[in-house]
Amino acid sequence: MLDLQSLTSKLPTRVKNQLESYFEALEILTEVKDPKVLSALGPSGVRGMILQRGKQGVPTKIHSGHYAFFDWSYPHDNAEMADLYRRAKKGQWDGEDLPWNISVDPYDPNVPLLPEKFVDLDVLAKFGVRLDDKTKLVLSHSMTSWMLSQFLHGEQGALFAAAQVTESVQFFDGKFYGATQVMDEGRHVEVFRRYLETKLEKLYQINDNLFVIIDSLMSDSRWDMKFLGMQIMVEGLALGAFGLMYKMTKEPLLKALLKNVIQDEARHVHYGVCALREHFNKHITEAERREREDWAFEVALLMRNRFMAYEVFEEHYEGILTRAQWREFVLASPGLQEFRKTMFSRLVPNLREIGLMSPRILQHYERVGLMQYFGGVAADKLSGDQMIHELDREADALAAA
Ligand SMILES: [Fe+2]
Ligand SMILES: [Fe+2]
Repeated sequence: MLDLQSLTSKLPTRVKNQLESYFEALEILTEVKDPKVLSALGPSGVRGMILQRGKQGVPTKIHSGHYAFFDWSYPHDNAEMADLYRRAKKGQWDGEDLPWNISVDPYDPNVPLLPEKFVDLDVLAKFGVRLDDKTKLVLSHSMTSWMLSQFLHGEQGALFAAAQVTESVQFFDGKFYGATQVMDEGRHVEVFRRYLETKLEKLYQINDNLFVIIDSLMSDSRWDMKFLGMQIMVEGLALGAFGLMYKMTKEPLLKALLKNVIQDEARHVHYGVCALREHFNKHITEAERREREDWAFEVALLMRNRFMAYEVFEEHYEGILTRAQWREFVLASPGLQEFRKTMFSRLVPNLREIGLMSPRILQHYERVGLMQYFGGVAADKLSGDQMIHELDREADALAAA
């Protein structure tokens, strides 16, 4: 048995951290028990976590080998998607109409980007790091920029995935709808980029775990895997994260931006549920369904604890804290705990709705504590307006507490 601690204790900090990140990558890859899932995720894991392809400068090229699905008969083949398309056309907005004239000062304690209790400063103090008022705001600026940078990178993935899916989906009404999603995602890239560039003036590189998921679904030639990965898993994750930040931030421009983006994303997840519910129930074999069920569970696990903001650690705390201490700090932070809760409360009901929650897999969700979300409302029953209404109510409760 390898003792990593004694093996690396004499190495310089940077090398030691690098080695530890390799071991973490191996640990994630060996969590995946299903060989089909491993062969789908493994190469992306190597490219993302070992080779760190997302961090090697531009451009990053990802090969995709999907078929474009043409239909010269132009059928009206899905009423629910046709309705979504109508709603999406009416719901278009212009990113330039957001109140960009608001000046944002990340260091203004009266308009915090994130509440102070988003992180648990006692954990840092336990490791001998005490923050004064200024460094608390520096950390908050970094964490917000890190999260928004990951949103932006995720949106770029969504833009390309939406374009691929528009080509390869077999529903013609889905193609119309997909065209609006491509526009939506383009606009999301526009507004997040502008916010980071002109207001926070900070951009972090893509997180390795996010890269793995994006690489995996971009390079998978099966359209429904792209759909499952992007429309259900990544969009579900994003919707949870956007909702949480919308609820917590006091910065009015960011709040307005997120409110609009959430409305669009609610439609995107609805589309994913609508397309996959039909496809998984009618068009695939039981073996194929099981593979997708396992894949979704493994990706859910990857997402659960793996977004550790190591990029912020490397910037401020490398050499001061160990990676393990930083991980403990992140895992204990109330904001990120809430984030995981929000994310899975959105995701699990959607997986149930598309038929990826058979009794066989339920016990695994039970084991990792995710079954509590099973009874929630799926995206096809929840509009963007309802979602915002719910978030506003939760934000009020938070402010009153
Ligand atoms: Fe988006
Ligand atoms: Fe989206």
